Amino acid sequence: MEYSEKVMDHFANPRNVGVIEDANAVGEVGNAKCGDIMKMYMKINDEGIIEEIKFKTFGCGAAVATSSMATELVKGKTIEEALKLTNKAVAEALDGLPPVKMHCSVLAEEAIQAALTDYYTRKGLNPADYIKK
Ligand code: FES
Repeated sequence: MEYSEKVMDHFANPRNVGVIEDANAVGEVGNAKCGDIMKMYMKINDEGIIEEIKFKTFGCGAAVATSSMATELVKGKTIEEALKLTNKAVAEALDGLPPVKMHCSVLAEEAIQAALTDYYTRKGLNPADYIKK
């Protein structure tokens, strides 16, 4: 299996690793098959901009690399932009993933969606009105 240099870089030096204590959006997702877990923390300001984002991934190298890249791609973006981020776009930003590892990138997309679902729920809003999947 061949990994791109970008995947190796984000795996070896993942960006935005950690926890945001006063996050107003937290999402956790897992893959039942491999047992890997990804947790995403965000601080979203009143303008709907994701000011801060951090993650913790207990999983394979591709899951770590895609979480890292996904956080880089949505940092400073609006909620709407973050909701449009697909796992394919994350994989492309990493110069591709081996086909057997594409499912790992799905976790990153799902973790962002889960955090934003939490964000709307905390506000007393119905996430389904905002997150169309
Ligand atoms: Fe589980 Fe990659 S093998 S996320």
